[in-house]
Amino acid sequence: MAEREIDETSGVETTGHAWDGIKELNNPLPRWWLIIFWICVVWSVIYWVLMPSWPGLTGHFAGVRGHSERKNVAAAVAALEAERQERMARLLSVESIDAVEQDPQLLEFALNAGASLFGDNCATCHGAGGQGAKGYPALVDDDWIWGGSLADIRRTLQFGVRSGHPEARLNVMQAYGDLGVLSGSEIGDLAEYVRSFSGNSASPEAISRARPLYETHCVSCHGAEGRGDQALGAPNLSDAIWLYGGERADVAQTLRDGRGGVMPAWTGRMSEEQITALAVYVHSLGGGE
Ligand code: HEC
Ligand code: HEC
Repeated sequence: MAEREIDETSGVETTGHAWDGIKELNNPLPRWWLIIFWICVVWSVIYWVLMPSWPGLTGHFAGVRGHSERKNVAAAVAALEAERQERMARLLSVESIDAVEQDPQLLEFALNAGASLFGDNCATCHGAGGQGAKGYPALVDDDWIWGGSLADIRRTLQFGVRSGHPEARLNVMQAYGDLGVLSGSEIGDLAEYVRSFSGNSASPEAISRARPLYETHCVSCHGAEGRGDQALGAPNLSDAIWLYGGERADVAQTLRDGRGGVMPAWTGRMSEEQITALAVYVHSLGGGE
């Protein structure tokens, strides 16, 4: 064993290690460092005992507290599910939008559930924000083909439009041209006349030729002034909002070929509670009545 060697300059014992003549002093560790070190040692022993720690052959020591992050998550999910069930059940019994709006928590819940259902099921046709597209009605405005009350919207969602469901909403805009009911020039006149309902200019001759045709063929569904009828699902022709385009050629095509957009039925594919949540969401998009 080497002699103990004291460094002359500092008076501290050396470890005996030397590199290129530089000697390592054997200073004690700083006190603060040692204190933290021992706290860590004690803490880790306590932690081993309390929390899941030692691995074993068939599992692990679960710790005195039996803590399990997995169990906590499962419990949180179950609690959320129970709360959701309770709210869903309450939603099912609401009849009007007022009843939902009086309960801000229920409203928020319905809007959240509705928004995510909308993104998954409806956005493909109606657009991400319900803004619609040609042939797919906008749901953000107050122009409703089938009515914009909560009950109307819910019914549209349940059974759809021309969906094939026995209770589907149903009405026909028939192909007046293709069926030979109206001639090409009559269709041209009618297109001009119908466009004049929303303020487009039209020749007086076309209007006078079209008026009797409109009386005969169109009034029963669209009404004398073209205001439409929500009970029949006949769109308003006087509000400058067009499902199939409002150019003369678009309107003429509607008259010639007919139209019949299909909105799927959701009963059976979604729970009635989900349908109500969606109806609340759609109602909130801007045009609910
Ligand atoms: C396959 C395309 C398609 C999908 C998917 C679809 N819709 Fe529709 N939806 C339509 C069409 C087309 C109409 C117009 C029916 C008509 O001409 O009367 C419509 C009409 C509606 C109406 C009635 C609008 C009015 O003015 O009265 C509502 C409300 C509606 N959809 C909501 C929804 C919701 C909510 C979903 C998701 C669950 C959805 N739609 C999914 C195509 C679709
Ligand atoms: C039996 C009822 C019925 C009759 C009669 C009828 N329509 Fe329609 N019309 C509809 C329905 C329903 C739609 C909507 C079709 C759809 O949503 O797909 C429609 C849609 C339209 C549209 C498209 C509106 C838009 O926003 O794009 C025009 C234009 C129109 N009808 C004009 C007429 C004219 C003109 C006549 C007379 C020649 C007529 N309709 C007769 C039921 C009718």
